Parts: sequence; structure tokens; C-alpha cells
Amino acid sequence: MDGPLTFLGIESSCDDTGAAVVRHEPGARARILANVVASQTDLHAAFGGVVPEIAARAHVEKLDLVIEAALERARLALRDLDGIAVTAGPGLIGGVLSGVMVAKGLAAATGLPLVGVNHLAGHALTPRLTDDLPFPYLVLLVSGGHCQFLRVEGHERFTRLGGTIDDAPGEAFDKTAKLLGLPQPGGPAVEAEAVAGDPGRFPFPRPLLDRPGCDMSFSGLKTALLRARDAVVADKGGLSRADRADLCAGFQAAVRDVLAEKSRRALAASPGIGAFAVAGGVAANAALRAALEGVAAAAGATFVAPPLALCTDNAAMIAWAGIERFRGGGRDDLTLAARPRWPLDMSAPALLGSGKRGAKA
Ligand code: KG4
Ligand code: ZN
Repeated sequence: MDGPLTFLGIESSCDDTGAAVVRHEPGARARILANVVASQTDLHAAFGGVVPEIAARAHVEKLDLVIEAALERARLALRDLDGIAVTAGPGLIGGVLSGVMVAKGLAAATGLPLVGVNHLAGHALTPRLTDDLPFPYLVLLVSGGHCQFLRVEGHERFTRLGGTIDDAPGEAFDKTAKLLGLPQPGGPAVEAEAVAGDPGRFPFPRPLLDRPGCDMSFSGLKTALLRARDAVVADKGGLSRADRADLCAGFQAAVRDVLAEKSRRALAASPGIGAFAVAGGVAANAALRAALEGVAAAAGATFVAPPLALCTDNAAMIAWAGIERFRGGGRDDLTLAARPRWPLDMSAPALLGSGKRGAKA
């Protein structure tokens, strides 16, 4: 498959319903012709987390609308496409199933090839979509549902160097926001508060830095934050604006320090790797990006941070990963299964952590 390819991508593994059209001509950088995301944030806000049944139903309602919108924005019809890529896992199974069923329906109706994509591969291959990054490179996936270091050696060749053994950092940001009465999703809210805060006032732990390797843990940080908050409340009868800012700044600095040190180790364990990329919603955090950029520079690696809309869940990354798989001969038929768990590196031991958004790897 050496010619130009135009793929529709479909994403519905968590709380964003996405459809996108990506075109790639060999030798040139891929072009995103449309990238439509319908967020379900409002639907889940009252529950303090993603409710799988509500998510699945909302995906069913929105999928055909976002696909229609993406094709319209790309000024293309289904017959102009060369294939349909869909997230087939890992994720909340009701949502993944919704997307897979729609993709199968479209493939059966049009005769277009169907390509099932691993959602994590979508994130991990995004630096190739945005920056044409050659293999191999190191990527840190850091979001509300996952956190792992992957050496990306090919479009289906991933080596996991370490990951969280409990919560994902985005989950910890969301929980922190909840404990401090800030809105969801918590990451942007905590980051905004942290700007005015003193990161040194509350000495939060830096979990697992005392152990070798690249595994991480974030659930203890959540507990430390709860204790620090309760101590202030017990002392003063409530939280002032400054207390809240200091708690946010201290928490964010702890997450940043852990991710920066583990990134340094992951790069040190990957001689010959010229680029370090980040992906996932937490990569939107400016303090974290700055720290990781410093780590990459110190290791002599290029730092690649995709634009925010391509860091968070989206279908352009799925269309792109589908194109990569298709060029490598990958195809699926109507037996394509939706998978709640689907580790990228099958040889690595299973991660203990699962997270509120469903086990990911
Ligand atoms: O990748 P994503 O859109 O969805 C998945 O979890 O797969 O990531 C969402 C997560 C949420 O937990 C959100 O709080 C976090 O990313 N996030 C941030 C920031 N923006 C989003 N965390 C820290 N700082 C941010 N600026
Ligand atoms: Zn994701």
C-alpha cells in the first residue's frame, strides 16, 4: 500500500466521542482534514467520574453525528475514503463496542477495509502524525486512564519500560480537584490554582523515587493531599484561597518531580533514542511540559509535545494509527472484537493499577 491513503477514524473508548479524517501521502507529512470531538464532560460532572453506562449511551447517540460532521468538514463522502479505523480497545467496553459496531456497519455497507486500532497505540504514534518522528523514540503516555513509558520501535512494536502501579496522574489531579471543591476535569483547575501557590508549603511525598526503575505510584499522593487539607481545616475551620493554591502547587510539584525523574531514568535506559515525546491529557500541564523538556534537553534528546487537541483523546490519532497498520498489511473483518484490556507490550508483566476509567493495560 504505497499510494496516498485517506482514512476515517472513530474513537469512543472513554468519555469523548470522536471522528476524524486523515490523509497521508508517502514522503509527506500527514494532513488532518477533520477532527471532531464531542465531549461528555457535562454528562458525568455530577458523578465525579465517568459513568460507563452513561458514556456508552452517549456514544451511541453521538457517533453518527460526529462522523457526518467530520466528513462534511473534510468535504468528502464515504466513497472517497480508503479505509475505516476504529478504537477496538482498551477502554470502557460499552463505549468501545459502540464504536466498533458503527465501524463494522460502515465497512459492511461500503466495502471499505476495516482496521481495529489499539487506543494506546493511537496516543503513542501521535508524534509521527504531528512531527513525522522516525522510529525508535520514547513516549510517556500520561492521562486520566494511563501512565506508562514506551519505547516505540515500530507501529506495532512497543516496549514498556515502566508505568503506574495504581492510579493514573490525571485521576489524581481529578481527585485533588474534587477534594478541594474545584471543577472537573481537575487537571486544568488544579493547574490554574497552582499558579499563585507556594509549592514548598506542604511537603508532599515523591512516591517510588527511592526504588530503582520507571514504575510510579500516585494513590499515596491523593491520601497525602486529603490529610494536608484536613489538617488545615481542623486548624483554621476552613480553606482560604491561598491554602487551596498552596495545596494545588504542592501536589502538582510532586507529580511533576516524579514524572521528571522517572523520565530521566527511562531515557537513560534507552541509549540511541533521539526523541522523547509526551501524549495524553496530563501532557497539557505547562509545568510538567517544562520539566520534561528540561529532562529531554539534559539527555540530548529532542522533546516532542503534540498540540493539546491531539494530546487528549481524539479520532485523528486513531485514523493515523489505522493508516500505519494498514500500510503494514493490517486488516480486520467483521469478527473484530472490542477489548476492555489490551496491553501494547504483551511481553511486559501486567500493571497492577487499573484506575476509575477502567483497566487499560
Ligand atoms: O487523555 P485524556 O483526555 O483522557 C484519558 O484519560 O484517556 O486525559 C484526561 C485527563 C484528566 O484526568 C484531566 O484532569 C487531565 O487529563 N488533564 C490535566 C490537564 N488537562 C487535562 N492534568 C493536569 N494538568 C492539565 N492542564
Ligand atoms: Zn486516551
